[in-house]
Amino acid sequence: MAFNMSDFSLAGRTTLVIGGSSGIGREIALGFREAGATVLIAGRRREALDAVAGKLGGSASARIAYSADARSVSALATLAETVEAEHGPVHVLVNCQGTTAIKPALDLSEAEYDNIVDTNLKSVFFACTQFGRRMCERGGGSIINISSLAAHTGWANAAAYCASKFGVAGITQSFAAEWGEKGVRVNAIAPGFFLTDLNRERMPEERKAEARRRCAMKRMGELPELVGAAVYLASDAARFVSGATLRVDGGYLSSGI
Ligand SMILES: NC(=O)c1ccc[n+]([C@@H]2O[C@H](COP(=O)([O-])OP(=O)(O)OC[C@H]3O[C@@H](n4cnc5c(N)ncnc54)[C@H](OP(=O)(O)O)[C@@H]3O)[C@@H](O)[C@H]2O)c1
Repeated sequence: MAFNMSDFSLAGRTTLVIGGSSGIGREIALGFREAGATVLIAGRRREALDAVAGKLGGSASARIAYSADARSVSALATLAETVEAEHGPVHVLVNCQGTTAIKPALDLSEAEYDNIVDTNLKSVFFACTQFGRRMCERGGGSIINISSLAAHTGWANAAAYCASKFGVAGITQSFAAEWGEKGVRVNAIAPGFFLTDLNRERMPEERKAEARRRCAMKRMGELPELVGAAVYLASDAARFVSGATLRVDGGYLSSGI
């Protein structure tokens, strides 16, 4: 088997990006299209979905943007059923849905905790199983979960977010172990800091400055800098890569003092 640059192509692949309506997910969706894939997106906000669908070149005849609350297992089941009925097998699933709250753990309410863990972990678990079951039956597929620096170390004022992302690291490796024989690869991308709707307003200026200071490259990432990692993990170029986490963090996690 010889290496070929065409291994990086996503031509002929149907991809679904949950959380494709903004930020990192939107950028990955646009990148997948650039790599030749058929790109579908899901999220809750209709208007945001339609705006990205417009960029992706969606037409009225073929729906490419699906409204779904990923915290609900039945909504995910409906999403998997509908998407595959309308577009055939999903070859690549990206779980990019997420939320956070930056506040002391002592002040975090039960409702806030549940929302963070349900959005960031429960939804990823059940999106993986809903789509993974179909991939296993067909004998192949690639799932990419967007984790975080917070899957690797503790974070003051983000304990629930951190718990959810450690959980994403755990299920990514567990599903990789469980489904490898079936040809289903499950990997994660751990982004460093990228300014998006998730953190632009929530992060105080001093926390942003600290994020830049602690990063080996002394800056935040630009969204297009994440796309190559996602295309690689989705593609045949990564056909023997499973259970991995690709850090795209400017060297953040590699830096001591
Ligand atoms: N930005 C960073 O520095 C950074 C760093 C590390 C990891 N991450 C992770 O990257 C992922 C994307 O975050 P982002 O920075 O791109 O923020 P973002 O722009 O706020 O994107 C979050 C996405 O998740 C979707 N979403 C949220 N709750 C949902 C739900 N219940 N059901 C379906 N979709 C839902 C949102 O769409 P709707 O609101 O329309 O539902 C939106 O598309 C998250 O998992 C985040 O933890 C981000």
